[in-house]
Amino acid sequence: MSISVFLLWLVSVPLLVQGNAIIRSVAGRHAQPKPQVKDYFVNCGSNEDVDSWELKYLADDAFISPQGTKTARINQTDVLPILSTLRYIPDKTTKKKCYKFQALKGGKYLVKSIFYYGNFDGGTNPPVFDLIIEGTKWSTVNTTQDYLNGLASFYEIIVMARDEKLSVCLAWNDHTVSSPFISALQVHSLNDLMYDGTNFDKYALMTVARHSFAAHGETIGFPDDKFGRYWYPFIDNNPVVSSHSNVTPSVFFNNPPAKIFQTAITTDRGKSLQVMWPPYSVPASRYYIALYLQDSRAPSPYSWGVFDIQINGETFYRQLNVTTSGAMVFSTFWPLNGTTTITLTPRSDIPVGPLINAAEAFQLLALEEKTAARDVIVMDDIARSIQHLPLDWEGDPCVPRGNAWTGVTCRHRLTTHIVSLNLTGLGVLTGTLPKSLSNLSALHHLWLGGNSLTGSIPDLSPLMALETLHLENNQFEGPIPESLGHLPKLREVFLQNNKFTGDIPASLKNRRDILLKF
Ligand SMILES: *[C@@H]1O[C@H](CO)[C@@H](O)[C@H](O)[C@H]1NC(C)=O
Ligand SMILES: *[C@@H]1O[C@H](CO)[C@@H](O)[C@H](O)[C@H]1NC(C)=O
Ligand SMILES: *[C@@H]1O[C@H](CO)[C@@H](O)[C@H](O)[C@H]1NC(C)=O
Ligand SMILES: *[C@@H]1O[C@H](CO)[C@@H](O)[C@H](O)[C@H]1NC(C)=O
Ligand SMILES: *[C@@H]1O[C@H](CO)[C@@H](O)[C@H](O)[C@H]1NC(C)=O
Ligand SMILES: *[C@@H]1O[C@H](CO)[C@@H](O)[C@H](O)[C@H]1NC(C)=O
Repeated sequence: MSISVFLLWLVSVPLLVQGNAIIRSVAGRHAQPKPQVKDYFVNCGSNEDVDSWELKYLADDAFISPQGTKTARINQTDVLPILSTLRYIPDKTTKKKCYKFQALKGGKYLVKSIFYYGNFDGGTNPPVFDLIIEGTKWSTVNTTQDYLNGLASFYEIIVMARDEKLSVCLAWNDHTVSSPFISALQVHSLNDLMYDGTNFDKYALMTVARHSFAAHGETIGFPDDKFGRYWYPFIDNNPVVSSHSNVTPSVFFNNPPAKIFQTAITTDRGKSLQVMWPPYSVPASRYYIALYLQDSRAPSPYSWGVFDIQINGETFYRQLNVTTSGAMVFSTFWPLNGTTTITLTPRSDIPVGPLINAAEAFQLLALEEKTAARDVIVMDDIARSIQHLPLDWEGDPCVPRGNAWTGVTCRHRLTTHIVSLNLTGLGVLTGTLPKSLSNLSALHHLWLGGNSLTGSIPDLSPLMALETLHLENNQFEGPIPESLGHLPKLREVFLQNNKFTGDIPASLKNRRDILLKF
């Protein structure tokens, strides 16, 4: 056995949650008061609220600033109301636009973004573009195949809000030839214990598969699943069975809907049950996998069975005791690559065949390090005090890498900091520099020349890393701060064509190592 396999095994030990065992800890956690959390259902591109599937979808203008976007209505009578309008980004120079939702810092959210192209732009193919969640590229949206099949597409993810706002952005990428668009968005707040064990500081969970085994044709969703998860029916060549007992879903960490325990796939007693699931090939990655099982016989002290569970031949769980109360077993970090086989093997003395009711698989998405909070506060101040900034000044200033705000350059180490702010020659900027600029402590270059900025230069004395300062050709006024001459790294200061008063401070004039234009 190689070391990498050994390590891989070490971090993949699945966790067991038995129905009754969890009741206590759930009750304990719920005793704590919890701030109010909100769910959001947004009908993108619409200026009116609509009801759909018993949910109220809101007009989207409260969640996005409309500059740089347009809305469209799909000329098709047979589409759901929430799919009949969309918002799109027609112009490549806008780069990205974000929806923002009030969130509870540290809260877990299931976010579903829904796309139906409907040939809204009269083009030949749906656009291909990027979807960004909380500053991390979540996926490339390509709805081509679904659209050909007459279907809408959705992308679902579970993510923790890392501050009081949750952001979902659309962005142009290198393959984008026409306008990125979105039809609807759902943000469901999840309970604390759901998908527990996942390190949500570092990862988000992208939904790959969620199935109710042997379900009769229909997809289970809201309101059976109050978190809006879809459980698709899954059937294979194995015998099916329906359940004779009830479970209490709330005793399971993940709060699955009760309906998924009503049917199962099984096999003859004494035999191993083999299920090829997920029913498609998946990319090589780590996955969160949860399996839901239940003894289907009438509840009795003897209605239990003991099984070993393997995935692709590796032990996933040993000697699992499944009763009529049900059981959930999960792993937060299981490696998959290609096709997957789940095998349930009964202990030799067990008089029933093994069965399985439902399963979920999520691919782990490593999150990017968001910009340091202090830098973000400064950038928000700048965005408030300067007008006519580039339209992509939305979402995180630095990440995803490649989607930093126009004019912003960042350093990505343990923490992410802004090292350069360069809006030279945009010509359109008006407004003033906020005092908090002095908090951009990693700033090396500040270039704002050739605009119509006013007001005085704020105190920049804490910017110890500052090398170049270009404020030429603006309307700045007031004195030139004496403290500039004391910045150790400063080597270039351009201040010409402004309305400054007073002389150049001696501290600056005497610095031979500074190229000064005034
Ligand atoms: C909708 O499509 C039909 C058939 O293609 C066309 O006749 C009609 O003018 C279109 N309506 C709008 C508002 O574009
Ligand atoms: C989008 O999907 C279609 C159909 O699967 C595929 O042919 C096309 O190459 C994809 N486009 C991009 C840019 O990946
Ligand atoms: C399985 O659980 C049932 C109910 O809790 C219990 O009666 C039974 O002894 C357990 N079986 C094993 C092998 O632990
Ligand atoms: C995944 O499987 C493919 C095909 O079997 C193999 O070539 C590839 O190396 C595997 N990738 C990883 C990361 O294990
Ligand atoms: C700032 O932008 C201008 C114009 O694009 C460019 O000429 C200059 O080199 C940039 N400065 C820095 C420090 O990147
Ligand atoms: C700089 O940041 C600190 C901590 O976030 C804050 O207390 C302080 O007021 C900020 N300074 C300015 C000038 O805004």
